[in-house]
Amino acid sequence: METNATQHDVDVPEDNLTWQRFSVPYQYPVAFMRGLFRPENPLFANVVARDDTTKRHRCLFIVDEGLTQALPDLDNTIADYFTAHAGQLELIAPIMRIPGGEMVKRDLAYIERMQDAIHAHAIDRHSYVIAIGGGAVLDAVGLVAAIAHRGVRHIRIPTTVLSQNDSGVGVKNAINFKGLKNYIGTFSPPWAVLNDFDFLNTLPQRERIAGISEAIKVALIRDRDFYHWLEENAEKLASFEPEAEEYMVRRSAELHMHQIAHGGDPFEMGSARPLDFGHWSAHKLEALTNHHMRHGEAVAIGMALDVCYSVLAGLLAKGEDERIVVLLETLGFRIWHPALESTDAQGELSILVGLREFQEHLGGELTITLLKEVGVGVEVHQIDTALMRKAMDWLRNRERG
Ligand SMILES: NC(=O)c1ccc[n+]([C@@H]2O[C@H](COP(=O)([O-])OP(=O)(O)OC[C@H]3O[C@@H](n4cnc5c(N)ncnc54)[C@H](O)[C@@H]3O)[C@@H](O)[C@H]2O)c1
Ligand SMILES: [Zn+2]
Repeated sequence: METNATQHDVDVPEDNLTWQRFSVPYQYPVAFMRGLFRPENPLFANVVARDDTTKRHRCLFIVDEGLTQALPDLDNTIADYFTAHAGQLELIAPIMRIPGGEMVKRDLAYIERMQDAIHAHAIDRHSYVIAIGGGAVLDAVGLVAAIAHRGVRHIRIPTTVLSQNDSGVGVKNAINFKGLKNYIGTFSPPWAVLNDFDFLNTLPQRERIAGISEAIKVALIRDRDFYHWLEENAEKLASFEPEAEEYMVRRSAELHMHQIAHGGDPFEMGSARPLDFGHWSAHKLEALTNHHMRHGEAVAIGMALDVCYSVLAGLLAKGEDERIVVLLETLGFRIWHPALESTDAQGELSILVGLREFQEHLGGELTITLLKEVGVGVEVHQIDTALMRKAMDWLRNRERG
């Protein structure tokens, strides 16, 4: 594997070559709870003060505007919390708001505005930048925090299903560039991730459903029991029954964390990207719909496509595709979008161009995760486009009934 290159891989006489080697252990707490900013809850203060309980820690909040519109009192709630924990915490500026969703990732001006704030408030490498919001806001703030002073302490407080069950617990950040998703970004583990389920209550239903697709994704490639649990609890999940939603978020986050910590490639040096199951077409679909389609909705279609293809390619038992599509539909996902049929100037199906773009994004060899059985992914390095078109036909015909 590319990440394990050894001395023997470099053809230089040994006396002219020194190998620099060190490793940096990463660890950060990931909490799941309710009532993060209730004054009596010490968690946030303890996490911030974890390396030094003798001083006050300077904090700058950058918050998703979609969230502050839904929770107009959030500023006061946070201010009250800081008053209650004034021995440890210092709120150095009014809460800064940035637009939620893909808008913040599409315009470098927001990055500059946040850098300005970090500079103006003299945030140093021992102060904190705290992001509260959906995956897009966490990605944008994470990038800013990673590059200011080459990295200031960054705490993520995810407020969508997707950011709690997937993106928020990971080690990546990014914004889009020239229409290419996640083109500018870094690998940068956070100081802490604090998942407060209460934030999900104000999330629009569409977003709340969309994020479930990442739980299905990780269950399909890694955990058969969890997948069965998702099937058994689909109706409860579709009606946001709190216990079911919490378990879904938490188990999905754990599986994502496990992959990052034990999958052998946390900073994605190789070509395989198992957590991107269903994503090669999803990324393209998001772009083709000008991001009107939610990431999770695109992933649901991407998974439907890849499980059909897995069956057609003889990797997955017949009928499993149908079963997975039924789960997606029970949760309210569509498995087809007309953008799948759009073509580029050369008459090529745009979605298939997405395969090339995905390869470029990964670097190296094309590596697509497909399904061997529920709970077990398999990597392939070639996609038969005629077969992929057949899979698309199947989805289109099914949707049209
Ligand atoms: N870094 C990673 O590893 C990683 C992984 C997966 C996805 N992502 C990124 O995450 C983004 C998608 O994130 P998302 O699905 O969380 O959606 P999002 O960030 O686009 O937010 C969706 C909408 O919900 C609003 N919102 C957020 N929290 C709310 C709340 N509690 N109440 C009311 N409204 C709220 C936002 O303002 C926005 O309008 C994409 O840009 C995707 O590329 C990153
Ligand atoms: Zn995803």
